[in-house]
Formats: sequence, structure tokens, C-alpha cells
Amino acid sequence: MGKRHIIADLIASPELGTDVTVMGWIKTKRESKGGFSFLEVNDGSTIKNIQVIADNQLPNYTQEVVKLTVGCSVIVNGTLVESPGKGQKVEIQAKEVQVTGWADPDVYPLQKKRHSFEYLRTIAHLRPRTNTFGAVARIRNAMSYAIHRFFQERGFIYVHSPIITGSNCEGAGEMFQVTTLDLERLALEGGSVDFGKDFFGKPASLTVSGQLEAEIYALALGKVYTFAPTFRAENSNTYRHLAEFWMIEPEMAFCDLEENMALAEDLVKSTLEYILEHCGDDMHFFNRFVKTDLISGIHDVVNNAFEHLTYTEAIEILSKATAKFEFPPAWGNDIQSEHERYLCEEVFHKAVVVVDYPKEIKPFYMKVNADGKTVKAMDVLLPRIGEIIGGSQREDDYDVLLGRIKEMNLDPGDYWWYLDLRKYGTVVHSGFGFGFERLMQFVTGLTNIRDVIPFPRTPKNLEF
Ligand code: 4AD
Ligand code: MG
Repeated sequence: MGKRHIIADLIASPELGTDVTVMGWIKTKRESKGGFSFLEVNDGSTIKNIQVIADNQLPNYTQEVVKLTVGCSVIVNGTLVESPGKGQKVEIQAKEVQVTGWADPDVYPLQKKRHSFEYLRTIAHLRPRTNTFGAVARIRNAMSYAIHRFFQERGFIYVHSPIITGSNCEGAGEMFQVTTLDLERLALEGGSVDFGKDFFGKPASLTVSGQLEAEIYALALGKVYTFAPTFRAENSNTYRHLAEFWMIEPEMAFCDLEENMALAEDLVKSTLEYILEHCGDDMHFFNRFVKTDLISGIHDVVNNAFEHLTYTEAIEILSKATAKFEFPPAWGNDIQSEHERYLCEEVFHKAVVVVDYPKEIKPFYMKVNADGKTVKAMDVLLPRIGEIIGGSQREDDYDVLLGRIKEMNLDPGDYWWYLDLRKYGTVVHSGFGFGFERLMQFVTGLTNIRDVIPFPRTPKNLEF
């Protein structure tokens, strides 16, 4: 398509008087009485549009330029000049406006007005062209980069854990099955399923976590992390659950719970700082149109030490609270998202780390504390979001781990290789899982997790 200029670059460091070519989509167009049109063109590189002045001397002015509407694609060639108007520093005096694609305004689903997020979810193929979803995509990109940079700078090795798995990391029955068996025929024939005839010769699923495999690599390479999609078939239609979401899972050998918590805090803060520093335009957009105290709330998390407390202390605080909870807090029960938010938003006004949960409500792999009742678990909670990180020190004692597997009614035979890691060169080790979309929610202020991932997968929702 030839040489082009990126609008973000033209605005950031303009070379006035030079010839430029931009390629993008019309955001708005208005005509002036003086015989020319103002086109606002966006190419996705920034939330800002570049203004193009197209005058009626252009050969296709009446035939095409005046007929341009929102969503049409154009290639504009012209001179970059200082803009006399307010709102922009530079604009393009067009020498040529080539229309590459029309978007019939009678049917084009995106008009220059504010559409509801619910409506935009039904047109996920067009929503990245809106200011909001363009900004979400750029921030997701910057956040991915910031996370990789964080780990790479600290000597972590990026490992690729498998997506298809024969084991269940979290020990719960919320996995998607993977099969090549003909389900329709099986249903017609009745009887039991012979997994020996399935692709892998045994039941297979999409992974809920890359942790167990990350542990293998941590116990060889020292410090590793994964960054991959994970899948949960929970039937929860909440503002913070997806069936397919991205998780970052660091795992460190010779690392206890204290160091694990320190890394988690460092990771959250560094990532937030990176976004504030590098996504200024997009963040100001969210601060203006989505949540007016968004940026100050992010600064609060970055600038304050995370509050640390035990599960038992958290339950004490929650039991004394005057707030009306849907789930009454009690020792032995899970801490619900309403409780998590209460702790962050009403009690401490910052990020909170809760440790030492009862072993009954946490997975088999967490290190049992000396009290025999609690495990070295840690959940990091953020205001507005609740749990953003779940992790632990891992059980590194062979016999205790075997006991926990049996206690939880899991089959030790399925975990033989995981047990082997405790038999050969075991070490104190720890790690955590960091929900990428939950951090995206915190950063953008968007309340529904379906709006921070390009194509959300939730119960009964598999369009696009
Ligand atoms: O607390 P979880 O279930 O922890 C694990 O999977 C561990 N194996 C991680 C580890 O220690 N390596 O999940 C970790 C994080 C949660 O804190 C949450 O942020 C996110 O993953 N998460 C979800 N995000 C979106 N939709 C869902 N259904 C999620 N489930 C968990
Ligand atoms: Mg969790």
C-alpha cells in the first residue's frame, strides 16, 4: 500500500511543511461554507484523530469527499501544517483523498453518538473502532509488554505451559472437556464412554492454570513465568468472570511466601506505573468518560504499601462490620468478592493481601502451616475488583503433599510427576496467578470484564 505515516507520530513530533500520507477511518466530517470539508481521520495508533482539510479543488470532491460518512476508509495525502483551529496543533491540507471503502450511513451500526456497552458487545467486530475499545486494545498491548518486561528484567524465563491437559490444577470440576469422540453418536448409542478411543486415549481438558507445569520448570530453571489463556467452565455470569481469560503465573524456586508477596506487590505497582507513564492519552479518556477518580485511585495503589493481614484477622474485621453482606462472614467460609471490596474500599482504602486461609477452602498444593489448619496462601485484593492475584507457597514435603492429595479425594496416580518433584531435589518454592483482565478492569475503570477482552467467552455467548 506504500509508505504511510502513523497518526500518533505525526501528532507527537510533527515536521511541519512535509508531505504525509495517512490511512484510516473517518470519525467525523463537517462541511464549511467556504467550499471545503473537515475530515477527522483515525488510524488506531492513538485515540486522537488527525484533522484533514479537503477543499473543493480536489477532483473527487463533489463525487466522493462530500459523501464521506463515519466509518469510511480513506488514504489521504497532503501537507502537514499548523492548525489555526483549537483542539489540535497540526492538520493535513489534503492534496488527494482516496476512498477505499464506503460505510452506508443508513446501515452502518456505529454512528457518531454514544452507544451502550451492551449494544457494542453485539457488534464486537466493529467495537474496536470506537474510542473506548481502541483504548482498551492499546492498553492491553502496553500492559502485556510491561509484564514481559518486568519479568525479563528480573531474570525470569518465559515458559509455555500446555493448553490441553490431563490434570486438574485447581482440583475443582470446572473444566472444559476436549474430545474428538462423536458426541452425537455416543448419545444415540447410549452406554458408557470409552476414553481409550478418544484422541489422547484418556480424558482431556483445557487447562485452568499453567501452575503445575510452571513448577516443573521452576525446579530446574529457578525463576519462570507463564502468560497464557486459561479456561474455566464455571457457570458464573458475574462482572468479573470469563470462561476464557489470560493469566500470568510466576513460579520461583528457593522462594517463600514473604518473597512471593513482595514480588506480587512489585508486579502490580510496576505494571500500573508503566500504563500511567505510557498510555497517557487513553488513560485521560477513561478518567474523563468512565470514572473521574480513576487515575487518582491508581496512584493510591501505587503509592501505598499493600496492607497485610491473615484470613483469621480478615474474618474478625468482617464479622464486626455493620455493612449488610449477602454471605455472612464466618471462619471456614470463603471470602466473597463483597468482603474483599469492603476490606479494600471501606476499611483500608488500598490494596490488601490476605494470607493463611483454612486448608479446606484452598487447593491441595498449598504449603500447610505449623498449625495444621491453615495454608500459606495469599490473595491480593484491589479496590473495585476484589481478588486480582491468588497464590501460595507450595507444599514441598512429599508425605504431606501425598496426604493432602488423598484428603481431597484426588488420585495420586494422576499427580505422580508432581509428587516426583518433592522426591528429587525438593526446595521451598512459591508462585501466584495474576488475572490479566481483572487488572485491565482496574486500570480502565470499566466495570464489566466482557469489555476488557476483545472477544469475551461467557455462558451462552460464543459469537465472533
Ligand atoms: O486464584 P486462581 O484460581 O489461582 C490459580 O489458578 C493458581 N493456580 C495460580 C497460581 O498460583 N499459579 O486464579 C488466579 C487469578 C485470580 O486471582 C483472578 O485474578 C483470575 O486469575 N481469575 C479469573 N479472571 C477472569 N475470569 C475468571 N473466571 C477467573 N478465575 C480466576
Ligand atoms: Mg483464587
